[in-house]
Amino acid sequence: MIGFNGIPLKLIFLCLSFALLTAGDDHKFIYSGFAGSHILVSGLAEVTPNGLLHLTNGTTQWKGQAFHPTPLNFSDPINGTVQSFSTSFVFAIRSIAPGVSAHGLTFFISPTKNMSSAFANQFLGLLSKAKNGNSSNHIFAVELDTVLSSDMLDADDNHVGIDINDLRSVKSHYAGYYDDMGGNFCNLTLASFETMQVWVDYDGGSKQINVTLAPTTEMAKPRKPLLSIEYDLSTVLKDISYVGFSASTGILDSHHYVLGWSFGLNQPAPEIEFSYLPKLPRVGPKPRSKLLYIVLPVASASFILALVTGIFLLIHRKIRYAELREDWEIEFGPHRFSYKDLFHATEGFKNKHLLGIGGFGRVYKGVLRKSKSEVAVKRVSHESRQGIREFIAEVVSMGRLRHKNIVQLLGYCRRKGELLLVYDYMPNGSLDKYLHDDTMQTLDWAQRFRIIQGVASGLLYLHEDWEQVVIHRDIKASNVLLDGDMNGRLGDFGLARLYDHGTDPQTTHVVGTMGYIAPELTRMGRASTLTDVFAFGVFLLEVTCGRRPIAQQDGQDVPFILVDWVLEHWQNGSLPNVVDTRLLTNYDVDEACLALKLGLLCSHPLPIVRPNMRQVVQYLDGNAPFPDQILMEITRNGGVERGTNYAASPSVPSSTSFGTMSVGLSGGR
Ligand SMILES: Nc1ncnc2c1ncn2[C@@H]1O[C@H](COP(=O)(O)OP(=O)(O)OP(=O)(O)O)[C@@H](O)[C@H]1O
Ligand SMILES: *[C@@H]1O[C@H](CO)[C@@H](O)[C@H](O)[C@H]1NC(C)=O
Ligand SMILES: *[C@@H]1O[C@H](CO)[C@@H](O)[C@H](O)[C@H]1NC(C)=O
Ligand SMILES: *[C@@H]1O[C@H](CO)[C@@H](O)[C@H](O)[C@H]1NC(C)=O
Ligand SMILES: *[C@@H]1O[C@H](CO)[C@@H](O)[C@H](O)[C@H]1NC(C)=O
Ligand SMILES: *[C@@H]1O[C@H](CO)[C@@H](O)[C@H](O)[C@H]1NC(C)=O
Ligand SMILES: *[C@@H]1O[C@H](CO)[C@@H](O)[C@H](O)[C@H]1NC(C)=O
Ligand SMILES: *[C@@H]1O[C@H](CO)[C@@H](O)[C@H](O)[C@H]1NC(C)=O
Repeated sequence: MIGFNGIPLKLIFLCLSFALLTAGDDHKFIYSGFAGSHILVSGLAEVTPNGLLHLTNGTTQWKGQAFHPTPLNFSDPINGTVQSFSTSFVFAIRSIAPGVSAHGLTFFISPTKNMSSAFANQFLGLLSKAKNGNSSNHIFAVELDTVLSSDMLDADDNHVGIDINDLRSVKSHYAGYYDDMGGNFCNLTLASFETMQVWVDYDGGSKQINVTLAPTTEMAKPRKPLLSIEYDLSTVLKDISYVGFSASTGILDSHHYVLGWSFGLNQPAPEIEFSYLPKLPRVGPKPRSKLLYIVLPVASASFILALVTGIFLLIHRKIRYAELREDWEIEFGPHRFSYKDLFHATEGFKNKHLLGIGGFGRVYKGVLRKSKSEVAVKRVSHESRQGIREFIAEVVSMGRLRHKNIVQLLGYCRRKGELLLVYDYMPNGSLDKYLHDDTMQTLDWAQRFRIIQGVASGLLYLHEDWEQVVIHRDIKASNVLLDGDMNGRLGDFGLARLYDHGTDPQTTHVVGTMGYIAPELTRMGRASTLTDVFAFGVFLLEVTCGRRPIAQQDGQDVPFILVDWVLEHWQNGSLPNVVDTRLLTNYDVDEACLALKLGLLCSHPLPIVRPNMRQVVQYLDGNAPFPDQILMEITRNGGVERGTNYAASPSVPSSTSFGTMSVGLSGGR
């Protein structure tokens, strides 16, 4: 009959208790936990494995009861009145949050164990609507109620009440206790999942009922009871009655526990030793506040949201700024730009920063964030993986080229199917605009001649003055850019190689621009310094005449070919007539004629008669006399067919004669 925790020490206590019982004293008992006891349960009530009397298990709107198995005879052997009794128990009520409705539990004395008709909710598993208040119930109870039920005339939702046959308490009080020191009232919250102790004492002589409540942290029973009334229980109770507990739940998940219980009829109830009591289950973090219920979900939701957005942004960023980078590129590190930097420099390659669209791709203006320097970013799409390594190596080596007449290549960036080349920004754009766009202000002769000289010296640098020979492959007016001082600078050098690399030699298509392509290039498909010289010759004529190398003529099938036209005039002795009419007479005739003659010489279909760039620069700078004789001979004598016809012509002049001519040219240095 005596509950205990199965610890050996307590076995002694158990034996002692049995000894007491065998001595015939069945007017008192104690349950220090209910494990192994014969306590009777009904409804939701159960004894947990660790010995808690679990009256309700969270099932809503239901009830649970527990009884000491044997009834007690409350009748006084002398005069038949209800004897003094006292009881004490330790309980805990757990709701979804402290102070939130969990209905309640009662300690009761009842003539019957059959409580199947009792209701849950405000009836606390003790009475029913039909029976509530009926004196034939013979029930005395102490309620620990956590709900304000108006039909039970409750004053608040956290009270202790004395009930006689009726859940409308005879007397009730807000839960709490009077401390022994100053007699101050201390509130307690019943449904706080804190263990509390209740004492119920009845004095058969004075008919006084005292109910006292205290937290188990309080060392002793408070002297002043919470409730005290005079009521003759002889008018209520049957001689033979059961003692026990009832509890009920409402709409919320709630649990009612009794941890220990003692009873004494006509004697004080045995003291409950807290240390023997079973432990309450631990549920969640101990300080369960209402705030937590709101803050926790909100916090975790925002955390998850932040995490998800973070990951999303990260992935987005990764995709947006994705680049191709391979091990072999490490050595080119300093020339490697990050895509992110270029992206920001051009504000995401916005159209308003578009400088122009060329044969290789779009060119954007940008400002690098770190150095604040202006750059032009060329986006070149390329599909072939082949040769990219060599090309990058070449690009990087070109980054080391430095000359006042070439556009400085600053570096590169590689993405999937795309190469980005970063150049110095040239504020005045490309030369072709000034030559062929009538809306633009035209260039005077001095400017043109300076640009010609500049481009010549830039090309000489590429061909001869650097550590290796660099062939430009695409010399033309649109690849000559003008810096802030209107100096001509060669751009785009070597880019044509990207298209040479990795292509099948059988199908090699010539890279270059119509009108600037040397005939032997179409035939052999191999670029050389002399094919550059050819293109430079065409460029000289273009700048001097202000006309495109090849142009469709109105109403004629044959296109206008600049070189042929100039040659004609040269042969007729009317060379000054081809000079750009926009210059009027404001030009140096000797310089212009030099440029035209040099242009003819350079663009000669036979590579061998073309001067090299060093000679070109000497002629232009006046450091060597122009070899009129040679020009005269090769144009008159050779009967040379001009233009693309040459490529098809089988009558190649004997190499020896041109060999001597070459010697003659060299001698002209
Ligand atoms: N470094 C630069 N600074 C300023 N503007 C530039 C720069 N590079 C190119 N541009 C502008 O972008 C336009 C396109 O240049 P791009 O060199 O790609 O084309 P293109 O020379 O006309 O043709 P191709 O690509 O066949 O040589 C040019 O006309 C020029 O106005
Ligand atoms: C509570 O106990 C009842 C009866 O023993 C049972 O049917 C129900 O599943 C239990 N509920 C919970 C939440 O354990
Ligand atoms: C209860 O006790 C009283 C007095 O001792 C006795 O008269 C009565 O018979 C008892 N009742 C039962 C059911 O044992
Ligand atoms: C309990 O009481 C109900 C009526 O309130 C009755 O139907 C039922 O049979 C009783 N059960 C027992 C075990 O006496
Ligand atoms: C009280 O209960 C008894 C027995 O259950 C019944 O006969 C009587 O009518 C009830 N009295 C009231 C006022 O409901
Ligand atoms: C105790 O509870 C009552 C009723 O809710 C309240 O008026 C009083 O302020 C509370 N006192 C303390 C100390 O919390
Ligand atoms: C009830 O409490 C009062 C006040 O402390 C006390 O004098 C009285 O003896 C108590 N009665 C019982 C039955 O404990
Ligand atoms: C009945 O007897 C008890 C002692 O056993 C005594 O305390 C009580 O006052 C008596 N009641 C009456 C009504 O005489």
